[in-house]
Amino acid sequence: MSFKIAIDGPAGAGKSTIARKAAGQLSFLYVDTGAMYRAIALGLLERGTDLQDSDALLRALEEITVTIGYDSTGGQQVFLNGENVSSRIREEKVGNMASASSALPQVREKLTALQRGLAQKENVLMDGRDIGTVILPDAQLKIFLTADAAVRAKRRYLELTAKGVESSLEKIEREILERDERDRNRPVAPLRQAKDAVLLDTSDMTIEEVTEKIVELARERMGEEKR
Ligand code: DC
Repeated sequence: MSFKIAIDGPAGAGKSTIARKAAGQLSFLYVDTGAMYRAIALGLLERGTDLQDSDALLRALEEITVTIGYDSTGGQQVFLNGENVSSRIREEKVGNMASASSALPQVREKLTALQRGLAQKENVLMDGRDIGTVILPDAQLKIFLTADAAVRAKRRYLELTAKGVESSLEKIEREILERDERDRNRPVAPLRQAKDAVLLDTSDMTIEEVTEKIVELARERMGEEKR
């Protein structure tokens, strides 16, 4: 049986960076499920789909195909109808649309089978919002990563500034709080800590410290499984 690690938490807690590093150190397949929701969101934005119009939404979802692949360094690449959209999905407008569209059951259904299928074949580290609670409830290690909203906003701001993108700290913090609110309060697959998840607050931890902690926990659990 493959070993599964589920990492969930709010936007900006450092999930993707940490998850990618930890998966690399453990030689696990890394699956960034947020990227899949973002790819669908981009497809919906391109089509100008009104999320309130359920017929239009279903038509759009029938036309949208999301697949993933890996580059030579193990980095996940996401494809929207065959086009590599890995960079385009990082825009703020796509993230905001992903937060809104991922609340819809039709959108979640489309990705559930794809995500579960990936975890069957090999050892996997998957990150998202509902991995420990809905997608992989039998994961051998579940982590809930969080950090203060102000810390998360600052990290995002520095990331954007480093990329040369102009932004405002207040606006980013407001958007992060709005997104948290939506992700936590949606009726379908809301963001919450699984009962058996380890809580890691990364506000005062470096990326290296968090990665090390996760790798250590994973090695411990894998050792216990073998015994
Ligand atoms: O982690 P991220 O910012 O790339 O995710 C984008 C959006 O997708 C986020 O607002 C919530 C949603 N999402 C989700 O609902 N379930 C997941 N497993 C992953 C992401």
